Amino acid sequence: MMSSSLQSTVEKAAAIIAKHDYARVFSHYDADGITSVAIISTALLRMGIQFHSSIVSKLDRSLIQDLDEDLIIICDMGTAQTDLISEYLTDKDVIIIDHHAAPLTSTIPSSTASSSPVIINPHCFTRGGNNEIDGEVCAAGLSYLVARCLVSEGERNIDLAGLAIAGTLGDKLEIDRGLNKTILDEAINEGVITIKKGLKLGDGKIRELLLFSTDPYIPFVGKQEWVDAFLNKEGIDGDKLLGDLEDEEESRLTTALLSQIRESDVEVPEDALVGTTYKMNLEVVRSGLDFMRMIDACGRFGKAGIGIGLCMREASMIEDAKSLYMQFQNKLVAELNRIEGAGDDGIQELSHIFYFYVQATGITGVLAGILAEYVHTKKPLIVLNKKDGEDERTATKISARCNKKLLAPSEGEGAGVDLAKALDKAATAVGGFGGGHPVAAGASIPNGSEEKFIANIDSIIGEQRRSLS
Ligand code: C5P
Ligand code: ZN
Repeated sequence: MMSSSLQSTVEKAAAIIAKHDYARVFSHYDADGITSVAIISTALLRMGIQFHSSIVSKLDRSLIQDLDEDLIIICDMGTAQTDLISEYLTDKDVIIIDHHAAPLTSTIPSSTASSSPVIINPHCFTRGGNNEIDGEVCAAGLSYLVARCLVSEGERNIDLAGLAIAGTLGDKLEIDRGLNKTILDEAINEGVITIKKGLKLGDGKIRELLLFSTDPYIPFVGKQEWVDAFLNKEGIDGDKLLGDLEDEEESRLTTALLSQIRESDVEVPEDALVGTTYKMNLEVVRSGLDFMRMIDACGRFGKAGIGIGLCMREASMIEDAKSLYMQFQNKLVAELNRIEGAGDDGIQELSHIFYFYVQATGITGVLAGILAEYVHTKKPLIVLNKKDGEDERTATKISARCNKKLLAPSEGEGAGVDLAKALDKAATAVGGFGGGHPVAAGASIPNGSEEKFIANIDSIIGEQRRSLS
């Protein structure tokens, strides 16, 4: 299943790592980044290789030029910085374990071109324009492949497969396909993971799960009375743990939730609510979803160390991680309820986009993602985080998301959209910068240029939808 060139690059990286007795490791702050760094750090620890791991939001020139360790491992980022790495780190061993495409303006060097950096990125393994690797693999999955080759005392780190699957859940990639499925099958066979079909809500008291579930989006999220009325009507005890429900009760709850969703104006596909759930048999948090969400919240609050501790099976980290997750959900749900109740001051609609302003920081991207996926699905959604009363030197941060269905051409609606290109163009036109992925992009623009930016984005998306290429 694994392409032979990917396998040989992974082996090459492992052989280079094994030559060293110290490593500097960098990774990104989301669930995929944190699980990646935990996989690599644990594998290094088991081999007796000392390390210093850091979570950073970006790799820039000043960081790269000051590195003086002989072995540098970069997870969930680095592909976009290969030019800087080649410029400053010529005499070092650098391993990049990443799954992001190179920016539009540059190309990823071929994986075989030189010995350093060694780039383990599925975008490097293409044949005839097609990806050699079936399905999308995240950085944690790739880090796991490296860890599997870092054998210590005959052990191949297969117990770390749960972290790879948690990272894959974090990046919302398809698990039941290609290389991800190979990893999952191995994890199931080795007893690391147990799968089951059920509600994709994590574990905990049913009342709280329904009250705070934003992804999948429950129409009465944040509304205590509605949740209680629903549970009373269905005769389900909200104080029960979801995991303790009898099969019959869970199936009754599922049917009732699906019918509630159908009656509402939100668009939650059945498979977003019900499907495979992953039990992490070796981790300190057993529900795969809860585990991933807690790790993600740690990273978003600048407490990635707690997330890494959780991944390294420190039970003492559970309470703090859980509390960070609840803080994050509280903030998110409050903002969702505020926007919904804001009427004309809430979400604005133009010909080709929806947009709105938020004050709360740190949740912009997640908020936009939820609304675009489940609530405002027909046009891209732009969220602006503007700091009131500041001058133009202060940046307004923008997050844009769209429902995946808008990426493909559709009858009557026109061609597919590409938010990365749209944000890049619209932000540059007002003296800012932007980019990202077709479905999820961001930008920074000078304070005061928001209205012009919004008008630009609306017209660029309009052009994209009209174009036939
Ligand atoms: O900030 P946010 O989560 O909305 O970013 C979404 C995507 O856009 C990320 O991949 C990020 O790297 C990218 N982005 C960018 N330029 C910016 C802000 C975000 O390329 N100024
Ligand atoms: Zn990632």
